[in-house]
Amino acid sequence: MKTVRIAVRNNEHTIKFGIGALYALAEAPAILSADAVCVVADTNTARFIPQVRGVLPALPVYEVTLAPGETHKTPETVVELCRAFARYGLTRESTVIALGGGVVGDITGFAASCYMRGIRCVQLPTTLIAMTDSAVGGKTGVDLPEGKNLFGAFHQPSAVIAELRFLDTLPEREIKAGLGEILKYYGLGAFPNASLDAFPLTQTSMLSDAFESVISDCVAYKARVVEEDELDVGKRRFLNFGHSFGHALEKMHNFKTYTHGEAVTFGIIIALRVGVKLGITAPDTSDSMLSAAAKMGLVTDSGVSPAELLPHMRGDKKNVRGIIRLVMLRQIGEPLIYEITESELNSVLEGL
Ligand code: GLY
Repeated sequence: MKTVRIAVRNNEHTIKFGIGALYALAEAPAILSADAVCVVADTNTARFIPQVRGVLPALPVYEVTLAPGETHKTPETVVELCRAFARYGLTRESTVIALGGGVVGDITGFAASCYMRGIRCVQLPTTLIAMTDSAVGGKTGVDLPEGKNLFGAFHQPSAVIAELRFLDTLPEREIKAGLGEILKYYGLGAFPNASLDAFPLTQTSMLSDAFESVISDCVAYKARVVEEDELDVGKRRFLNFGHSFGHALEKMHNFKTYTHGEAVTFGIIIALRVGVKLGITAPDTSDSMLSAAAKMGLVTDSGVSPAELLPHMRGDKKNVRGIIRLVMLRQIGEPLIYEITESELNSVLEGL
């Protein structure tokens, strides 16, 4: 099991991951000092609740099972969840546990930030994408009809515990979704080339030390970035590499056709092509990223022409005063924020 520490403002906690990491839950300070806990899962992850109960110390344990999927990531679900916390009599000494992927983590973290003006939340991510990215760093929130993640808060977890055995039964498409975020971290320089030897992933190699190291490097990279820029006003924006085009692709298809990770992969490839065309990204960097994607077994062509994405980039919260902010790579490990007007971007995308 590996441990990464993260310290931000008035919160310091650990991120633990590995085979058997779940046992660390029993020793987490947010559990040991809780008067009660409430485990929040969805219908896909509720099957892990008995394992979670099995390691919890003797204290009242409540459960809520949510309907799965992004369409339920709404303010109404957060209100329902807070009302369940109230019915169970949770207090400011209680802890909620988010047991699931990014959607469960985002909803539960946000409900924890609102209930009684903030109670503790432990993240138990069950998907690769949540383990490497969304469960870490305290971004919580839900979608509004006007856009994704527009209603939320920064609420740091009190612990993150990633039990790699939960990945055993994760469908291959969900594994690939996580690899999209791992490709992002590779581009940001989070792990050395040699770590690519952990790929392609199989059920066996996913539980290997080599793969545990890849996750560890991604998480450690993110932890350092969040420590420096928790509120996303500087360096943390680099973590959006691939997301501007990726979100546009998701939005264009009403969040139904692609997983977030698939869209991020396509978004990364488009950002590289744009970067090469603008003379920002070295062509050999783009080639290295493509071979890393191939090693990970990722599909890199969405079949959508990049110019079609532009209208769907308008509501992006990264944009300011009509200027689109893109994360680009100069080379691996050297990201930058590039500001471009819509009409300039349109002419770049037209020719791609
Ligand atoms: N997923 C990007 C971030 O947490 O900032």
